[in-house]
Amino acid sequence: MNILVTGGAGYIGSHAVRQLRRAGHEVVVIDNLHRGHRSAVPSDVVLEELDIRQTELVRKVLERHAIDGVMHFAALALVGESMQQPLLYYRNNTGGSACLLAAMDQAGVKRMVFSSTAAVYGQPATMPITEQAPTCPVNPYGRSKLFVERMLQDHANARKDFAFAALRYFNVAGCAADKSLGEDHHPETHLIPVMLNAALGKLEKLTIYGEDYPTPDSTCIRDYIHVEDLVAAHITVMESLQDGQQRTYNLGVGKGLSVRELVGAAKRVTGVDFPIEVGPRRMGDPPQLYADPTLIRKELGWEAKVTDIDQIVASAWRWFRENPKGYGESKK
Ligand code: UFG
Repeated sequence: MNILVTGGAGYIGSHAVRQLRRAGHEVVVIDNLHRGHRSAVPSDVVLEELDIRQTELVRKVLERHAIDGVMHFAALALVGESMQQPLLYYRNNTGGSACLLAAMDQAGVKRMVFSSTAAVYGQPATMPITEQAPTCPVNPYGRSKLFVERMLQDHANARKDFAFAALRYFNVAGCAADKSLGEDHHPETHLIPVMLNAALGKLEKLTIYGEDYPTPDSTCIRDYIHVEDLVAAHITVMESLQDGQQRTYNLGVGKGLSVRELVGAAKRVTGVDFPIEVGPRRMGDPPQLYADPTLIRKELGWEAKVTDIDQIVASAWRWFRENPKGYGESKK
């Protein structure tokens, strides 16, 4: 298939570009390089430096490359930042997706695999979370993505042959097996990179955001999934989408781990006893989020291969240790 990857210069998108090509697909990337990295895109892949809100230009790219389907990763994805700058999230994530869908509609492109998030669930009453759990996001990031899911449903109801899958990610980590692709965010606020930067001495310490949650060790619980497993699910889903289908899947390992357990894993893997302090809660953080990933296993046979947290952290560590400057590109 000819696949357009939006956000293909970003962390998850760049891994998707690589796996799609390995699976024999032709790939074109759109990225505004706001947070993505030019050097994360192979030189023989077309990189259109555009914003997904440039509807007319995006339509032309879709038509020029006879695109069959879109994997839509381009988005801002920091819960904390979304609390501070909600409009930025609605404009980029929700508005951007509306523009992209309009371009797809004009170009007659009828497949989308959408990068959604576990943040759409908010603070569910029961764990693990199935796709049937009510969606009630507690931060603008989660709402900005849920609105896109709704928009996709409305569009698919109106255009009967349009098909989409919303993939609700839990916490993604790790790097490509050959260490050539990895996580390089500015700002970096995710737990695993922050811990590894503390282990490298690039940060003075890790601050645990809250130790007063209603969980066994009083820190937040999340479900950590390896980026290559996550991306493999996208390809399985894209290849299996049929006209008119509307699908929603959780992408997680199905194991809930606390911030304290992650700290233990990072110290074991790095061998560094980096300093820790306990700070106040970060606004917008739900106490627990972990997936029931049964649906996608039953329907498509996908499940995470890497289920051991030490292996996930070790994969991320290989990247951070060998690329302490990330891709070495300066970002504002
Ligand atoms: N945390 C700390 N200290 C830090 C950074 C994080 O204690 O310096 C804690 C957070 O409070 C949270 C956990 O570690 O409890 C994980 O935080 P991340 O920032 O790594 O990830 P989030 O859970 O906030 O968000 C991530 C993705 C979202 C996705 C969500 C779903 O960024 O896109 O997982 O679980 F929606």
